[in-house]
Amino acid sequence: RASVRLYHERVVDHYNNPRNVGSFDKNDPSIGTGLVGAPACGDVMKLQIKVDDASGKIVDACFKTFGCGSAIASSSVATEWVKGKPMVEVLTIKNTEIAKHLSLPPVKLHCSMLAEDAIKAAIKDYEEKRTKASGEGANAC
Ligand code: FES
Ligand code: FES
Repeated sequence: RASVRLYHERVVDHYNNPRNVGSFDKNDPSIGTGLVGAPACGDVMKLQIKVDDASGKIVDACFKTFGCGSAIASSSVATEWVKGKPMVEVLTIKNTEIAKHLSLPPVKLHCSMLAEDAIKAAIKDYEEKRTKASGEGANAC
């Protein structure tokens, strides 16, 4: 076979059949939204998590990525990896693990970085909303 494979088959699979594409209501208090962009290429990724407030576990996740195939594949993998996991555990996911899983070439590392940044931004958004909500509750007392 003489064909040159530019991308690992997992990238092609996640690009052709991205998991968890969609949107949640960003105003829902149990939803965290991470919106990040890559200055180098202008690609944008939105990753959202749905959190069970009591346990801090991520029960669902979805994404919308306007970007290259590697960014789409990275966000697809990221949503699969975060589902069912506690937020504290998810914060340790490294872009290099995603890149390794997808066998991304070095020039595509920043695409997986978007996914790591988006996960962190989504958790931060959730936590900020939660703090704000409890603050408002306290004021009402
Ligand atoms: Fe989908 Fe591993 S091939 S997360
Ligand atoms: Fe920029 Fe992939 S080329 S996110």
